Amino acid sequence: SSIRQHKVAVIAGDGVGIEVTASTLDVLRTIQKKVGGFELKFDELDYGSARYKAKGSYAPEGWVEDLRKNDVIFFGAVGDPEVPDHISLWDLILPMRQNFQQYVNVRPSKILPGIPARITNINSHKDLDWLIIRENTEGEYSGQGGRTHKNTPWEIATETSIFTRKGVERCLRFAFEQAQKRPKKFLTVVSKSNAQRYGLVLWDEVAEIVSKDYPDVKWDKMLVDAMTVRMVTKPTSLDTIVTTNLHGDILSDLAAGLSGSIGIAHSLSLDPTRKSPSLFEPVHGAAFDIMGKNLANPIAAIMSSAEMLRWLGEEKAAQIIEKACEKSIEKGQTTGDLGGKLKTTEVTEAVIKLLEDQ
Ligand code: NAI
Ligand code: MG
Repeated sequence: SSIRQHKVAVIAGDGVGIEVTASTLDVLRTIQKKVGGFELKFDELDYGSARYKAKGSYAPEGWVEDLRKNDVIFFGAVGDPEVPDHISLWDLILPMRQNFQQYVNVRPSKILPGIPARITNINSHKDLDWLIIRENTEGEYSGQGGRTHKNTPWEIATETSIFTRKGVERCLRFAFEQAQKRPKKFLTVVSKSNAQRYGLVLWDEVAEIVSKDYPDVKWDKMLVDAMTVRMVTKPTSLDTIVTTNLHGDILSDLAAGLSGSIGIAHSLSLDPTRKSPSLFEPVHGAAFDIMGKNLANPIAAIMSSAEMLRWLGEEKAAQIIEKACEKSIEKGQTTGDLGGKLKTTEVTEAVIKLLEDQ
């Protein structure tokens, strides 16, 4: 039979993104050899802040169409101490999400065995096993707004949130479908419709309508502020969670903190229609405080790549990688953020050994 070919654009980016992407490529090369039957064609791209500082742009002209030729995108992180964060975000990350209509950002959160408890009532996967789904193309990150009378005392700045019925509906539909696939079949829809009475009231109304198509899914509604309290005090009352772009960004970082470390939080930015490439990346950024020191936890990036393989249909390879990551944590073979003493490259070697042994 013929070998399945998958084209993977690789954007390591900046800071620890470079280190954890190198780890991930080592793992992917190993798994491809071990499992067989498929071949990953990596296109390693130099998009990032170094390029911006040298050439004035984060990516070469035509980059969106270049990326579109790939089946998937693996992304490390962007961000540079010398470049304002809104430039790196708006020149690279947000255009990818919008151009490729990666309209959901999926962030699984679970406490893995061996992870030290952050809070006493939340210390095993029985207490915290969530799937957070964040709208990824509009809402508070729509990019509409501007500044007038710049640098005068009467300067005005606007930042408009955009909620389209179609954009809200497709995200909620995806969330109900995910909830339906999980054992608890339970979804919590998070908004702030008391204060934001147009966009987020639309969000709540569309949730009511979409829910009718999923009668076997139980669901409830929360305001985002109360949601942060519920996540900490009643974590077992939650399972699948869906929310808007900004709220999802914040709640998923809280989930990452509660479930161990940002160093193991992975994410999927999906175009569920599969018309455009989806993107897989660790939740964390460039981590200026530890970059270039071989201290970053590579697990978030490696787990993201497992989800990437799953999306490509390589389920067996995905499971082997996930099991190896989980075992390494269970054995305490971890970086400092999880209380261990290992370097990035040592954790990577440990994971590779554990996956070869399976
Ligand atoms: P950050 O995620 O880079 O760092 C926050 C904290 O988490 C730091 O203490 C860092 O040391 C720690 N951390 C991050 N990754 C880690 C890892 N793999 N292992 C162990 N510890 C880790 O967030 P911050 O500091 O807000 O942003 C730094 C830069 O990264 C900024 O330029 C920001 O815009 C950018 N950023 C980029 C993202 C992306 O590329 N998707 C996401 C978040 C931030
Ligand atoms: Mg974030």
